Amino acid sequence: MKVQKRPLFGMEWIDLDEKHVWHPFTQVQTEASPVGIERGEGVYLETFDGRKLIDANSSWWVNIHGHGHPVIVKAIKDQLDKLQHVIFAGMTHQPAAELCEELHHFLPNHLSKFFFSDNGSTSIEVALKMAFQYWDNQGEDRKKVLAMEGAYHGDTFGYMSVSERDLFNRPFEPFMFGVEYLPFPNALNQKEMLQQTENLAASGQLAAFIFEPLVQGAAGMRMYSKDLLSELIKICQKHGVLCIADEVMTGFGRTGKMFAMDYLEQDADLVCLSKGLTGGYLPMGLTVTNEKIFKVFLDDEKRRGFLHGHSFTGNPLACASALASTRLFKEDKTWEQIQMISEAHESFIREVDKSKVFNIRSMGTILAFDVKSDKKAGYFNPARSKVYDFCIKKGLLIRPLGNTVFVNPPYCINSNELQVIYDALHELLEEFA
Ligand SMILES: Cc1ncc(COP(=O)(O)O)c(C=O)c1O
Repeated sequence: MKVQKRPLFGMEWIDLDEKHVWHPFTQVQTEASPVGIERGEGVYLETFDGRKLIDANSSWWVNIHGHGHPVIVKAIKDQLDKLQHVIFAGMTHQPAAELCEELHHFLPNHLSKFFFSDNGSTSIEVALKMAFQYWDNQGEDRKKVLAMEGAYHGDTFGYMSVSERDLFNRPFEPFMFGVEYLPFPNALNQKEMLQQTENLAASGQLAAFIFEPLVQGAAGMRMYSKDLLSELIKICQKHGVLCIADEVMTGFGRTGKMFAMDYLEQDADLVCLSKGLTGGYLPMGLTVTNEKIFKVFLDDEKRRGFLHGHSFTGNPLACASALASTRLFKEDKTWEQIQMISEAHESFIREVDKSKVFNIRSMGTILAFDVKSDKKAGYFNPARSKVYDFCIKKGLLIRPLGNTVFVNPPYCINSNELQVIYDALHELLEEFA
């Protein structure tokens, strides 16, 4: 087909997007063109043609304090005047060191060593590589990982390996490493899961157990028992298997506590952070671990160190943003807002017409439910596009996972804005009934 050339002069930037940009997670042939966003303020996104949308998705679950938060914006601007970037091997800087100290106060005391990377996927990749090398440095042959069905840990090869094997990553499956899967917990399979974990952990082949604590995000905001997860971690740790908590989505207040693992009896050995880490303003990943693991990499031989890094590791602007965002969790107001949102979600659940909704659930600031559909449930369910378009027309950014609709707004949202969301959801359920 002959491509029609259009003159650049006079072309709106939104047309340039159509011409050049290949957007993520998008079937370009069938999906509508993206909405052009010009600015964000608080809970609102403003489109290039002046419409306002409530960001009920926190822009892919990252924007925890709202857009344009003055404290975070100022921290980035101040840092911008001092140092924008510096190599992080052999050099360091104040925002990185202070950020680690600040985060350390919010984490279990033994988690005191912080490794920087660029996003959620790299924070997981680092954790897995650390776990494999931890065993290799000690001469132990542990090459398998235990993961949970439905898991989503990112899109690089290591992450895909430990995520659910499905239509998303089928073309890449031959290149992935060996993983044992536990079924997703339900009321009937927990005893079996504990036994399976005991058998696998006792085999001495598992390097690590990786999990999204309490809520599997991309699988459809699936929630499961804290008691079961505590037991699974206990069994793994009894056999020395390193436990990796992927807090990329659940971290920073999303589940009602600073971290989802704060609900657990057992602490993880490695924790992965990203998304809300910088308040959602700049990309950054962190893998946090303990002295015991750290010390296994100390040696006179260089190769036994952790030889991993990225050009933008420890970027000072991202660190300044993360430091400002983390400090906001010392303010009562942040926790009052999280509490207010959690309670509002619970009262929506109490009030909603139960004959029109399936599997309604909430945890902290996450509200999720499934809409009726005669097609297979899951990410590829076509209800997604109908719900998405309906919400955009109502002035809401809600990005369902297939037939699962969920809301996880920035914590600055007020009760009127929440009510706008709930009113639209009631209407949506009428449409789908
Ligand atoms: C639980 C979890 N882990 C890891 C990732 C990957 O993070 P990123 O998209 O920043 O690479 C995601 C992304 O949604 C996630 O939800």
